[in-house]
Amino acid sequence: MNNKYLDQIIHDLKNPLSSILGLSDLLDKKCSATDQTSKEIIRRIHHHAIFSLKLVNDLLDLEFLNRKNFSIEKQPTDIEELAEKTINNHLLLAADRNIAIAKRIHKNFRLYLDSLRMEQILNNLLNNAIKYSPPGSKVVLHTDDYNGFFYFKITDNGPGLKKEDQIRIFEPFTKINHSSEEQCEGSGLGLSIVKKLVELMHGELFVESEENHGATFIIKLKMEAVE
Ligand SMILES: Nc1ncnc2c1ncn2[C@@H]1O[C@H](COP(=O)(O)OP(=O)(O)OP(=O)(O)O)[C@@H](O)[C@H]1O
Ligand SMILES: [Mg+2]
Repeated sequence: MNNKYLDQIIHDLKNPLSSILGLSDLLDKKCSATDQTSKEIIRRIHHHAIFSLKLVNDLLDLEFLNRKNFSIEKQPTDIEELAEKTINNHLLLAADRNIAIAKRIHKNFRLYLDSLRMEQILNNLLNNAIKYSPPGSKVVLHTDDYNGFFYFKITDNGPGLKKEDQIRIFEPFTKINHSSEEQCEGSGLGLSIVKKLVELMHGELFVESEENHGATFIIKLKMEAVE
């Protein structure tokens, strides 16, 4: 099918999915707390609508990032604030999976960055680190600088990645089957969005990992410190 039609279909799915989400919330409020079966059905409808809406938004975002006129908007960004915001976005998920989030971040340090897009990058990487880690383990967000480059690193103690999977994971819709893990939900678009964004920032994205020994995702950017 023509890409133009496909883009239109993806776009047109947004409104009905948002309606399903809103209606399921309304239904949940109307439903008696004692009607557990209906509550569970509504919970599942809500869950599937959220998953589908995320997929649609990610597809639209990927398409948007690939447009020629897309540009990165840099502004002075406090690194610790950015890190805190990303961590706060994940406190519930981390608590739910009994994962501790630690940080080692530059203090009182500002860089010229597209803070919204950088937050999106860190959100994706932190979400993965928590999602693929075993309960009870620790995820670390840290920053580093040397030789004129600035680094964001996200380390986990999850299942890690085989050498041959370490390139594949950045292709859209790639999901690796981690044998020891329960199947984690996701559509396999997060890392392709991260890769595209890091490219647009003229940075580099690496993964250092060994199977069964966790993974560290690293973003390397030319350091543009705010004086
Ligand atoms: N920290 C990690 N440890 C082990 N495997 C990972 C890690 N991060 C990503 N992966 C593997 O790479 C695949 C692609 O990741 P990606 O973030 O693109 O998709 P996803 O998490 O499955 O879905 P979503 O689109 O919701 O992000 C994952 O399905 C997972 O198998
Ligand atoms: Mg992901």
